[in-house]
Amino acid sequence: MVTSWGKAGLLLGLAFSNVAATEDVITSDTYFYGDSPAVYPTPEGTGAGDWASAYKKAKAFVGKLSDDEKVNLTAGISSKTGCSGYIQSIDRLGFPGICVSDAGNGLRGTDYVNGWASGISVGASWNRDLANDRGTYMGKEYRKKGVNMILGPVVGPLGRVALGGRNWEGFSTDPYLSGILVSESVKGLQSQNVATSLKHFIGNEQETNRNPTTDSKGNTVQSVSSNIDDKTIHELYLWPFQDAILAGATNIMCSYNRLNNSYACQNSKALNGLLKTELGFQGYVVTDWGAQHAGIAGANAGLDVVMPRSTTWNSNLTTAIANGTMKASRLDDMITRVMATWYYLGQDTVFTNPGVGMPSSASAAHQAVIATSQEAKPVLLQAAIEGHVLVKNTNKALPLKSPKLISVFGYDAYGPMTLDLVSSFNFGSTATRSDLYKNGTQWVGGGSGANSPAYVDAPIDAIQRRAYEDGSSVLWDFTSVNPSVDYTSDVCLVFINAYATEGFDREALSDSQSDSIVTNVAKNCANTIVVVHNAGIRTVESWADHTNVTGIIYAHLPGQDTGRALLEILYGDSNPSGRLPYTVAKNGSNYGSLLEPAEPEGKFQYFPQSDFAEGVYIDYRAFDKDGIEPQYAFGYGLSYTTFDYSNLKVSKKLASPSTYPAEAAILPGGNPRLFDELVTVTATVKNTGGVDGKEVAQLYVGIPNGPVRQLRGFDKVLIKPGKSATVTFRLTRRDLSTWDTIAQEWLLQRGTYKIYVGRNSRDLPLQATLTF
Ligand SMILES: *[C@@H]1O[C@H](CO)[C@@H](O)[C@H](O)[C@H]1NC(C)=O
Ligand SMILES: *[C@@H]1O[C@H](CO)[C@@H](O)[C@H](O)[C@H]1NC(C)=O
Ligand SMILES: *[C@@H]1O[C@H](CO)[C@@H](O)[C@H](O)[C@H]1NC(C)=O
Ligand SMILES: *[C@@H]1O[C@H](CO)[C@@H](O)[C@H](O)[C@H]1NC(C)=O
Ligand SMILES: *[C@@H]1O[C@H](CO)[C@@H](O)[C@H](O)[C@H]1NC(C)=O
Ligand SMILES: *[C@@H]1O[C@H](CO)[C@@H](O)[C@H](O)[C@H]1NC(C)=O
Ligand SMILES: *[C@@H]1O[C@H](CO)[C@@H](O)[C@H](O)[C@H]1NC(C)=O
Repeated sequence: MVTSWGKAGLLLGLAFSNVAATEDVITSDTYFYGDSPAVYPTPEGTGAGDWASAYKKAKAFVGKLSDDEKVNLTAGISSKTGCSGYIQSIDRLGFPGICVSDAGNGLRGTDYVNGWASGISVGASWNRDLANDRGTYMGKEYRKKGVNMILGPVVGPLGRVALGGRNWEGFSTDPYLSGILVSESVKGLQSQNVATSLKHFIGNEQETNRNPTTDSKGNTVQSVSSNIDDKTIHELYLWPFQDAILAGATNIMCSYNRLNNSYACQNSKALNGLLKTELGFQGYVVTDWGAQHAGIAGANAGLDVVMPRSTTWNSNLTTAIANGTMKASRLDDMITRVMATWYYLGQDTVFTNPGVGMPSSASAAHQAVIATSQEAKPVLLQAAIEGHVLVKNTNKALPLKSPKLISVFGYDAYGPMTLDLVSSFNFGSTATRSDLYKNGTQWVGGGSGANSPAYVDAPIDAIQRRAYEDGSSVLWDFTSVNPSVDYTSDVCLVFINAYATEGFDREALSDSQSDSIVTNVAKNCANTIVVVHNAGIRTVESWADHTNVTGIIYAHLPGQDTGRALLEILYGDSNPSGRLPYTVAKNGSNYGSLLEPAEPEGKFQYFPQSDFAEGVYIDYRAFDKDGIEPQYAFGYGLSYTTFDYSNLKVSKKLASPSTYPAEAAILPGGNPRLFDELVTVTATVKNTGGVDGKEVAQLYVGIPNGPVRQLRGFDKVLIKPGKSATVTFRLTRRDLSTWDTIAQEWLLQRGTYKIYVGRNSRDLPLQATLTF
C-alpha cells in the first residue's frame, strides 16, 4: 500500500459517456465475461493439517457473536493505533483487536526498529538459515511493537517485467529460489507468533496501471489485467505461494491487478479455486489497501477481510444474507478464518495490546517501545553481507591490500540528509518514474517496503572508520560527474545506485549520469571498483569490460548495516558468497517484451491487457530458450577462493513412481504427496583456493518438453581451503513434474530428464541423466 491509495476508484462504476462511439474500443466489462472461470462456493476452512485446535476455538468464539460483531471483523476501521490496518476489538469477549502493518523489510511507520536487508538481498544470499534467522529477529520486533501481522513477505511480483518497480521486495525471478526463501522467512516470522500476509496474490507483475485511474476525459481506466494460462500460473507464479502455505503462511493479500479481467480480490478461480481448494489454505484473504472493487460478489468469490475499511460491506453483508445473495455460512467462514489465525499463532496470549508500539501519528511518534536488540545485530549484518554479489574482480583487485589512499566518488556513498519518521515513511513515495535516488546511499527501495531504521551506516562512514583504525587516507567527491582523481590513489571506489519504488515501474535499467561518473573516474584511475546499490536489475554494458574497472559489486539493498557489510567484503573480512537471483543482460533489449510493463492501448485503452504469452519463459528460461548470452548469468557470483565440482550421484528413491501423485486429503500447501522426495542428488565441492569460502552449489533440471533447465536445488556450504564438502539436493515429485491442464494435476512424465550441477545457470560442470 501507499498512503495515496484513496485516489483509486473503489467501486466498479464505469463512466463512458464521453467516449465517442468508436466501434472498436471496448467500453464495457461485459466484453470479458467468462475469461476467468467461475468457481463457487468458497470452500470453508476445515481445520486441516495442524489447524484443528485453532478452528475449534475460533468456532466457539464465532458462536458467541452477534451479527454486527461478525460484520465488524470483516474489515478494518480508521486506525487509532498507528497500524497500517486495524480490526477492532470486541471488549465484551476480551478480544483486543488485530493490528497489521507494513512491510517485509522492517516495521514501517514507527521508531526503535531495525532496517533489514530487503527481499532482493535475501534472494542474493541463497541462504536458507539466514532467511529464517532474519524472519525470526524481524518477527521479534513486530511482536514487541504489538503488530499481529506483517504485511509481507513478497513473492509477487516474481519479477517478470525487468523494469518492475517492486521486484526488489521479493527474492528472485525464479519460483524455486523464491519458494524456499519465502518458506524460511514465514517459519522465522511465525515462530514469534506473528502472522505473515503473503503478497500480492497474484499476477501483480507491474506497477503501471496497478490501480484504476481516470483519464483526461473522465473515463475510468481499469487496473491492468494479467492474463495467465493455467500451466504458467502453476509452474511459475503460484509456486512460491504454494511453498509458503506449505510452510504455514496464515494470510494472503490479494492484489490490485485484474486476473483474466476479473479483479484479483473478487476472482473466484484464484481465491476459491487455486487458493482455498487446490492449496487447502486455512487462513484468511485480505485485500491490498483499497483493492476491493465489488460488494457481496467479492465475499462470494473468497475474499474474507477488507482493508483499510470497506465502503460496500458493513451491514450490507447481513442484508445480503437476509435476501439470499450470500449464505450465512460464508460470513461465519470469513471470520472463523480470521479468529483461527489468531488462535493458531497463540495470539490470544501474546498480543494483549495490539499496536502498543505504534505511534498514532508520525508527529506523536514516541511511545518508546524499543524493539531493537543487541542479539539481532549479527543477523542484521550477515544478511547485509551475503546479499552482495561480486561479479568482476580483475587480477584479484579485491580484497583490498592495505591501501594507503582511497578515493571515493558518487552520490550513493553518503548517508541521507534527513532521517526521521516522516521522511522514511514517505521514502520514495513522492518520487516519479524518472527519479533516481541520487541524494544519498540507497539501502532500501521506496514505498511501503521502506522503514525508519535505528541508524544508517553509510559506505563513507565505514570507510572513514577504517581509515581511523588503519592509518589510511580518504579523499572524496560525491557531487561531480567528472571528478578529479588523485593519481596516487591506490583504489577508487565509485558508488551509484538504481532506484525503484512501489507505485511506479522503473524508466531504464541504467542511467547515463551514473555511467558517466564510472567512466570518468575509470579513465584516470587504473583500479576503479564500482559498487551498485540496485533495487532490481542494473545493466552495466557501457563499462563492464573497461580495463580500469577492476571490480564490480552488486550490493543490492543491505539495510542499515550497508557500509559495515560492504567494508567486510572490500577488505576480505568476509568472503563474498552472494549469487545473482536474476539474469543481468548485456542490453536491456535482450529482455524483449518483458523489459517494460504493458500500457493501455488500442481497443483496450480502458482495460489495459498484459498477456503472459511467454508462458514460463522469463529471465534465464527465456535467455536459454533464445540462446542469448547474458552479461552475468542467473546464479553467478565470484568468491575470493575457487571451487571444483566432482562425483555427481543421482539416486532414485522409487524405481518407477506413478505418473500422478496418489490421491490424499488436501493439507495446507496442497496434496502432500507432491512433496515426496523422488530423487536424491549429491556431489562433492572442493575449495581449491587459499581462503575459507561459502559456495552455492546449484542444481538445474531439464524436464522433458520444458525449459532447457530450471533451478530445482541449491546448497550453500562453507568449505575450508583444500577441504571438500558433500552437497545434497532432494528432488520432490513437484520439482520434476509439469502441470497437466487436462488432468488438473501435476504430471511426472515418462522420459529422460537432464540433471546439471554447478556454479550458476551457465557454468554446470556436472551432468547426468535420469529416466522414468
Ligand atoms: C485464465 O484463463 C486461462 C485460459 O486463457 C485459464 O487457463 C486460466 O485458468 C484462467 N485463470 C484464472 C485465474 O482465471
Ligand atoms: C461495529 O463497529 C462500529 C464502528 O466501529 C461500532 O460503532 C459498533 O459499536 C460495532 N458494533 C458492535 C456490535 O460492536
Ligand atoms: C451498501 O452497498 C452500497 C452499494 O455498494 C453502498 O453504496 C453502501 O454504502 C453500502 N452500505 C454500507 C453500510 O456500507
Ligand atoms: C441483497 O442485498 C445486497 C446488499 O445490500 C444487495 O447488494 C443486493 O442487490 C440485494 N439483492 C436482492 C436480490 O435484493
Ligand atoms: C535531491 O535533493 C534536491 C535538493 O534538496 C531536491 O531538489 C531533489 O528533489 C532531491 N531528489 C530526489 C530524487 O530526492
Ligand atoms: C586507465 O587508467 C590509467 C591511469 O590513470 C590511464 O592512464 C589509462 O588511460 C586508463 N585507461 C583507460 C582505458 O581509460
Ligand atoms: C542495446 O540495444 C538497442 C536496441 O537494439 C541498441 O539501440 C543499443 O545500441 C544497444 N546498446 C548497446 C550498448 O549495445
